[in-house]
Amino acid sequence: MNFKIALIRGDGIGPEIINETVKVIDKVGEKFGHAFEYIDVLMGGCATDAIGTSYPEGTAELCKSCDAVLLGAVGGPKWGSDRPAQERPETALLAIRKDLGLYANLRPAVLRPALIDACPLKRETAEQGIDLLMLRELTGGIYFGKRGRYQTEDRGVEATDLMAYSEKEIERIGRRAFEMARLRRKKVSSVDKANVLETSRLWRSVMHRLAEEYPDVAYEDVLVDNCAMQLMRDPGQFDVVVTENMFGDILSDEASMVTGSIGLLPSASMGDGAPALYEPIHGSAPDIAGQDKANPIATILSAAMMFRYSFQLGDEADVIEEAVDKALAAGWRTADIVNLGEAIVGTRRMGEVIRENI
Ligand code: IPM
Ligand code: MG
Repeated sequence: MNFKIALIRGDGIGPEIINETVKVIDKVGEKFGHAFEYIDVLMGGCATDAIGTSYPEGTAELCKSCDAVLLGAVGGPKWGSDRPAQERPETALLAIRKDLGLYANLRPAVLRPALIDACPLKRETAEQGIDLLMLRELTGGIYFGKRGRYQTEDRGVEATDLMAYSEKEIERIGRRAFEMARLRRKKVSSVDKANVLETSRLWRSVMHRLAEEYPDVAYEDVLVDNCAMQLMRDPGQFDVVVTENMFGDILSDEASMVTGSIGLLPSASMGDGAPALYEPIHGSAPDIAGQDKANPIATILSAAMMFRYSFQLGDEADVIEEAVDKALAAGWRTADIVNLGEAIVGTRRMGEVIRENI
């Protein structure tokens, strides 16, 4: 089969990890007889430098003309919060999520068997295994609410960010959670702050209504602060964790570290139509950019998700995931997952070893 993939290489380590991943995709193509066409899409700080805006006109349309979008990372101190909105890479990231309607962000956190030693938790906790799916609402909440600053009479400048959720937005992400749980261990943990926030109370009531429609799926409410704690204490208890945009941003970083390193976790962002977008959950790591130090695994595993969800090619996805596990089992380690005394390889070598296992 033929597929067209939009590549957003982005900033920092983005281009390096995308390079390795493209070579993995091509290797899979060779092995299974698929052909890929890549369309380079300029977005992020690099776009600001080139043409003065992080989200060039036509970016969404270009992506929509493809079967899937693969993104490295965008951002960096060069384009910081002192810059106008249209020059900041984060503006582009939020815009593309919104324009492609990508409301469901899947962030699987899996403790890979070879990496038990990289897990910062107690050995007996790690040995119980971690295999959870963080499902983050991605196009609503405080990320997209009205915000602003205004001068007050007696309190100086005041700033505000509004968190809003509609029943419709909650229901569509909630349904995804239950549907996905049915394909896994049939448990949904819905994370909110219903003891304080009105948006959370609405969230919870919609989730309870859905839970009745899925009696075969176990359901629980978890307060967000408790969830942060439970992820440290006993992450093995979670199967599908569904939550709103900002809670999901924070908890997914925590979940990633529990599995060893943020350099390992892939993600898929989906809407109701094509294309979906695939990206590692980590950022552009400007401190190590261009030094062949970044871990390409999160991006390579994101490509595996692309095969599974956008191309409906589950065997190809399995092969990529197995190749990663084999490379790790054979002791290959990038700097972020290395233990004392182990040898370190760079981005390119890690990519090469993974391809050798395909
Ligand atoms: C993520 C990132 C982004 C987010 C930033 C870069 C805007 O942290 O994808 O998790 O907060 O969504
Ligand atoms: Mg984040």
